[in-house]
This record gives sequence, C-alpha cells and structure tokens, in this order.
Amino acid sequence: MPCQELQHAEAIRRSVYTLDKKLPVDQEKITAMIGHTVLHAPSVFNCQSTRVIVLFGEEHEKLWELAKEALTSIVACDQFGQKRQQVDKFKKAAATVLFFEDKSAIRGLQTNFPAYADLFPTWSAQTNAMVQYAIWVKLASAGIGANLQHYNPMIDEYVAAEWSIPDSWQLYAQMVFGGIAGPADDKELDPLEHRFKVFGSNLKVSETV
Ligand SMILES: Cc1cc2nc3c(=O)[nH]c(=O)nc-3n(C[C@H](O)[C@H](O)[C@H](O)COP(=O)(O)O)c2cc1C
Repeated sequence: MPCQELQHAEAIRRSVYTLDKKLPVDQEKITAMIGHTVLHAPSVFNCQSTRVIVLFGEEHEKLWELAKEALTSIVACDQFGQKRQQVDKFKKAAATVLFFEDKSAIRGLQTNFPAYADLFPTWSAQTNAMVQYAIWVKLASAGIGANLQHYNPMIDEYVAAEWSIPDSWQLYAQMVFGGIAGPADDKELDPLEHRFKVFGSNLKVSETV
C-alpha cells in the first residue's frame, strides 16, 4: 500500500458511534483482514500474546446484552438509563472484536527474563494496543466505522462463561464496528509543534507530514 493510502486510512480512522448492521465488506473478508493483523503484528520479545475473538450478528448482540446485565449490578440507578442507551447503540452495530492478552505467554517471559519482569505487563498492554490500532485503521480503510470500549473487567466473567475463554486470557478491550450511519464528532487536532520534534534536519515539523 502506498504511504499516502496508509496515511489516508490513519486520518479517516475515528471513533464512530452511530453504526448500523450494513457492512460494506463481507464477513469473510473482514475476518481475513483481522486475522492477518493478529498474525503479523509485532509483540514484545515476539511472544505473540494477543488473542482476538470476533462476534458477529446475534453473538455481538449477546455481548452487549450481557454488558447490560453486568451494568445493573454496579451502576447507580440514576446513571443506568444513560449507560443502557450507550449499550443499545453498540447493539445496533454489526459486530465486536474482543481483544485479550494471554497471561501465560507473559508469565513465561517473566520467568525467562526476570530482569524485565515488572515491565512485561506494560509491554503486553502495548502489544495488545498495536493489534487494536492496526485493526481499527484497517476497518476504516475498508469504509467500516468502529469505536473502542472498555467494559472489562465488569464483563469478564460473563464473557468467559459465554464463549469458553481460557483462564489465562485477560480481556483488554472491545471494538464495536459496523456500517457508518452517522459522522464522528468534530475533533480538534492539537498542533504538532509541541508534541513532535525532529533533530538533525533543517525541516520544520509542519513540512514532515
Ligand atoms: C487507550 C484508549 C482507550 C480508549 N477507551 C475508550 C473507551 O473506553 N470508550 C470510548 O468511547 N472511547 C475510547 N477511546 C477512544 C478515544 O476516546 C478517542 O480515540 C479519542 O477521543 C479521539 O477520537 P478519535 O478516535 O475519533 O480520533 C479510547 C482510546 C484509546 C487510545
């Protein structure tokens, strides 16, 4: 893919919350796109610790019904209506990607490289985030809208029971996706000047993008 196409995909990737079930790409292609990222993404010490599950259709709706159930046990009554509306919005989308880290892979690294033991949980989260981001950009490039949610750990037990998740898999994030039925919110971009520096070149930062 030429760099400009990749940059375009990065720029159109947004948090899209108004989603529907009309996917512009068939499920087989989406599954292949996601699997490709899981296969090729970088990981700390090449431990390949990220695990991914895609829930389409009724399975996706089941997830958000379970989230609603989990919410009732922890959210105060006055906030429940608002939270339920949010979850109902997710249900209107086509699918959800669940992102996990396999803690057994991370524990193995901690045993084999004790000098870094404290750092592996952070690197594991970063490994997972790389997969999340690559999938988000790829979905955007295919005209699919998505948003990223963190209903874990509230839904962990429900998810583990429903989809027979191994004990060592820890849920990190949920990416809801579907057809784009409404635009993303406006977003102001903080200028690059104070968040990006280049040394050893005469270029101004604005000339590098
Ligand atoms: C680590 C991380 C956690 C996030 N968690 C949530 C979340 O729980 N719920 C949500 O709606 N958006 C979440 N987001 C999305 C951000 O709010 C969003 O990316 C940011 O506001 C910029 O908007 P954009 O995605 O449209 O560029 C998260 C993003 C990141 C990088």
